[in-house]
Amino acid sequence: LTAGHGRDSAVLALGGGVTGDLAGFVAATFLRGLPLVQLPTTLLAMIDSSVGGKTGVDTPAGKNLVGSFHQPRLVLADLDTLSTLPAKELRSGMAEAIKHGAIADADYFAVIERDAQVLLRLDREKMCRLIERSVQIKAAVVEADEREGGLRKTLNFGHTIGHAIEAHSRFQLLHGESIAIGMVVEAEVGEQMGITQKGTAKQLRMLLQRIGLPFRVPSTFSLDAIMDLTRVDKKARGGRVEYALLEQVGKCSVGAGSYGTPVPDEVAQEALARAL
Ligand SMILES: NC(=O)c1ccc[n+]([C@@H]2O[C@H](COP(=O)([O-])OP(=O)(O)OC[C@H]3O[C@@H](n4cnc5c(N)ncnc54)[C@H](O)[C@@H]3O)[C@@H](O)[C@H]2O)c1
Ligand SMILES: [Zn+2]
Repeated sequence: LTAGHGRDSAVLALGGGVTGDLAGFVAATFLRGLPLVQLPTTLLAMIDSSVGGKTGVDTPAGKNLVGSFHQPRLVLADLDTLSTLPAKELRSGMAEAIKHGAIADADYFAVIERDAQVLLRLDREKMCRLIERSVQIKAAVVEADEREGGLRKTLNFGHTIGHAIEAHSRFQLLHGESIAIGMVVEAEVGEQMGITQKGTAKQLRMLLQRIGLPFRVPSTFSLDAIMDLTRVDKKARGGRVEYALLEQVGKCSVGAGSYGTPVPDEVAQEALARAL
């Protein structure tokens, strides 16, 4: 505002998901909306956060409680930027790719299983295909349901528990690390409720281990605090916490019809305890 930018300006978000979410939120609200270009430089931002138009900022009360939908005019991902990305951040991004496979494409999940090591070494062609497939999956979901009335909820697989874990760690755990643990816990929840095929949590654990992502809740974490944080999550409706659950790897559960399944606290707490 002090620089005198007007409606003839545009916002370019060059960086990871945090930059994209913040710059996107500024673009969504500055003078009630400026054009936005996403220039993602982390794997996570390339395959997930730069696509789909969700923008927002984190607050101590929880993740993504303040935000807006604002679609970018353009997303430009330059794979060369990944060469300077710390390995831990690269692995964090892989968690969202695993999520895309888990919710929508068992073959893609299998490709990640097969190529895990090569991908972590940044094989250019394989990484390019991974980004392409993840963006296809996410874009197709968002095109079908931009405002999260139904299908888009499937992208929240691993995120009800994952966001709570991320906030509980005071953002010391990376987003991808948190949702890696979240996916395992939520697969356990689904298995316990008879919705998710038995063995799915194990399949996820094995792939996460191969990538070098965490799959256990750190023993110092308070399960009660995590449960409390799931309740402030925006997906909690009328006191009930909704989860996006899998039927099996590659297929989401439609739940009660809109891809969200209310989960009793005892079931979630037990699944968390089992993931310690
Ligand atoms: N809007 C959405 O739809 C959506 C989806 C998924 C995740 N997110 C959000 O995205 C955030 C995570 O994004 P992230 O994983 O990109 O984290 P990040 O933006 O914090 O970036 C990770 C780190 O890497 C650095 N970095 C970025 N690019 C680099 C490069 N090319 N080389 C070296 N260092 C580089 C950053 O400075 C930062 O320290 C979370 O807050 C999450 O909630 C949003
Ligand atoms: Zn995510």
